[in-house]
Amino acid sequence: MSTMNSSRFLTLFEEFLLESSHRYFSDDLLINKAVNYSLLSEGKRIRPLFCLGFCHALQGNVDFALRCALAVEMIHTYSLIHDDLPCMDNDDFRRGKATNHKVFGEAHAILAGDSLLTAAPHILMQELTKIQTNPELIVKATTTLLEAAGHFGMIKGQAFDIEAEKQIENSSWEQRDLITIHSHKTGKLIAWSCLSGLYSTQNDEQIKKLKNEVEKIGYSFGLLFQIIDDILDATSTLSALGKTPGKDLSAGKKTYLSEYGLEGSRNLAEKICEEIKIDLKKISTETTDWSVVSDSLQMLEKKIRS
Ligand code: IPE
Ligand code: IPE
Ligand code: MG
Ligand code: MG
Ligand code: MG
Repeated sequence: MSTMNSSRFLTLFEEFLLESSHRYFSDDLLINKAVNYSLLSEGKRIRPLFCLGFCHALQGNVDFALRCALAVEMIHTYSLIHDDLPCMDNDDFRRGKATNHKVFGEAHAILAGDSLLTAAPHILMQELTKIQTNPELIVKATTTLLEAAGHFGMIKGQAFDIEAEKQIENSSWEQRDLITIHSHKTGKLIAWSCLSGLYSTQNDEQIKKLKNEVEKIGYSFGLLFQIIDDILDATSTLSALGKTPGKDLSAGKKTYLSEYGLEGSRNLAEKICEEIKIDLKKISTETTDWSVVSDSLQMLEKKIRS
């Protein structure tokens, strides 16, 4: 029953993504081809599923959540294109295909990332206006998304990740702390995705009441997600991952594996799953249906010891 809900929302998102790509990036330009090459390739769409899953659980407006899902997937896709560049993680494969810069060259890969980053808030505000959202909520959704994606969020995490790898000395230990790296480079966008599902209720009282709890659960999901990404880098294959495994070790990245080993990381991931279940229960009422969020949790849980 619940998996049915997840696949229904996934299909809904893929249709909206395709339709939006036709609307905004359809001209026969090289830059549009570079954008669509990454945006329409097979990602897991976990962030969109959190937007829609929290919306579903809290009886929000699906049209609102769909627009948030599109914006966060665009920003995530840009982050992957730039993360793979030779000056960053220097990766050749992503989502089961050659990386963007391998196909379109570095300049167009950088520009495709720039396009997705800037188009995301532009399209989010435009599309939310079209469905007659309260302007205050449009501002809230957009400013918090940009905060999560930018200097105070994902970019900070990406910078600390690189500083820890290259052991750049003017960065303090605190900055290279794993939780700080993970909660910024991955947690911020995932926490925003969960929060956007709460915003989709368009109910001020509800938003105020649940904001801290939903954000906390979002950060836990983000941490769990990145720990599993680190585990899979050491244990999985190119065909299963769609990206080259073993890169963290060869690049000398600071990861949960490098600090706590495989078993320590798996135990920690399992502990976080249990904490999430407890925290979800805490904010449940008789009308809350966590089925879509639980599907994502189950999918992640299975990967810990796959
Ligand atoms: C990869 O994200 C980068 C991380 C933050 C770990 P995903 O694992 O969500 O990548 P896609 O979207 O499925 O390709
Ligand atoms: C990337 O983390 C997080 C981003 C913000 C893109 P990783 O560098 O671990 O992601 P993968 O393993 O390349 O997908
Ligand atoms: Mg990286
Ligand atoms: Mg990488
Ligand atoms: Mg990784």
